[in-house]
Amino acid sequence: MRIDIISVLPELMESPFRASILKRAMDKGLAEVHFHQLRDYGLGKYRQIDDEPYGGGAGMVMMIEPLDKCISELKAQRDYDEVIYLTPDGETLNQKIANTLSIKNNLIFLCGHYKGIDQRVRELHITKEISIGDYVLTGGELAACVLADSVIRLLPGVLNDEQSALTDSFQDNLLSPPIYTRPDEYKGLKVPEILLSGNQKKIEDWRHDEAVRITKEKRPDILE
Ligand code: ADE
Repeated sequence: MRIDIISVLPELMESPFRASILKRAMDKGLAEVHFHQLRDYGLGKYRQIDDEPYGGGAGMVMMIEPLDKCISELKAQRDYDEVIYLTPDGETLNQKIANTLSIKNNLIFLCGHYKGIDQRVRELHITKEISIGDYVLTGGELAACVLADSVIRLLPGVLNDEQSALTDSFQDNLLSPPIYTRPDEYKGLKVPEILLSGNQKKIEDWRHDEAVRITKEKRPDILE
């Protein structure tokens, strides 16, 4: 998978891809992430990328021309499955969206800033708008990192068996059951007997029941 990220602040996004599982995914060639500095497509001597809104009002608007130039240049090089705009107005990211995106080949992420982008960029290029939650960030960069992480970890070969994404919370509309490791007792707190029993069938049943119980308690909204 290849992800091209367009931003005025690409430096904000470099470290998440330089450590741990995401770095390993890059090193193995399972994912490629390329940053594009929008200012390189800016207009005039000052490389202008934003301007005042028509009709007045507070805040600046990201101009259509630099965005169109940048996105068109990328589209001329390969076919993209989606051009995604990170914005609080978008569809709220969930595991289902991450799963769907993880089977795509080429994605563009556009990070918004200021008041947002000229509406015509949406009409011309944007195929999907994604929000990472009902709150407003200073820009789309951290949201782009969250989205990329949620997608890249699902690519075949990125996680090993022990880290398997198949047992993640949300993967089957259930939160994860409680987990424990050694010691079996600490300051009087004991690991549930069943997990020490060696009876795999009973353990799986217990885990499922606990997952249902916890989901009902914490997130009844995701239970079908
Ligand atoms: N840009 C600013 N806030 C955002 C959010 N909540 N999700 C995605 N992009 C954003």
